[in-house]
Amino acid sequence: MVCLGNICRSPLAEGILQSKLDPEKYTVASCGTSNYHIGGKPDRRSIEVAKKFGIDITQQRAAQFTTKDFDNYDFIYTMDSSNYQNVIKLSRNPKDTNKVSLIMDELYPNNSIDVPDPYYGGDQGFEDVFQMLNQASEKIAAKLEKLS
Ligand code: 4NP
Repeated sequence: MVCLGNICRSPLAEGILQSKLDPEKYTVASCGTSNYHIGGKPDRRSIEVAKKFGIDITQQRAAQFTTKDFDNYDFIYTMDSSNYQNVIKLSRNPKDTNKVSLIMDELYPNNSIDVPDPYYGGDQGFEDVFQMLNQASEKIAAKLEKLS
């Protein structure tokens, strides 16, 4: 799960998807394309909205995307088209490139829907992001179940 800062959207995406999967079978992780918040905790507002829905993301710490992530993960979901472009720029071959998609394409393929960056907004933005990611993660979990 990839966003810009790895403190608002992708920590939520990580927590939500992991909550829908067997942790013995699947590793979900998140990172940012920027180095702005490396080592930092998720934004307080992301922690709060996750908690409201029974998900604890307090142990997460921000990391930056690296090319190694192409080797370590089978699916790379980006929150918006800017994150998508940033990750694609780091891809080394078609195998890497094919792992990357916009997370909202899971629900609305080829509609180029971004999960909006809630950082500069209010609490409602975080609630909206949670709902979008919850729906997309349901779809992803069902897809992975079918593949297994
Ligand atoms: P995120 O939100 O990409 O969802 O973690 C942001 C967090 C911090 C900044 C931008 C977006 N920032 O510019 O510091």
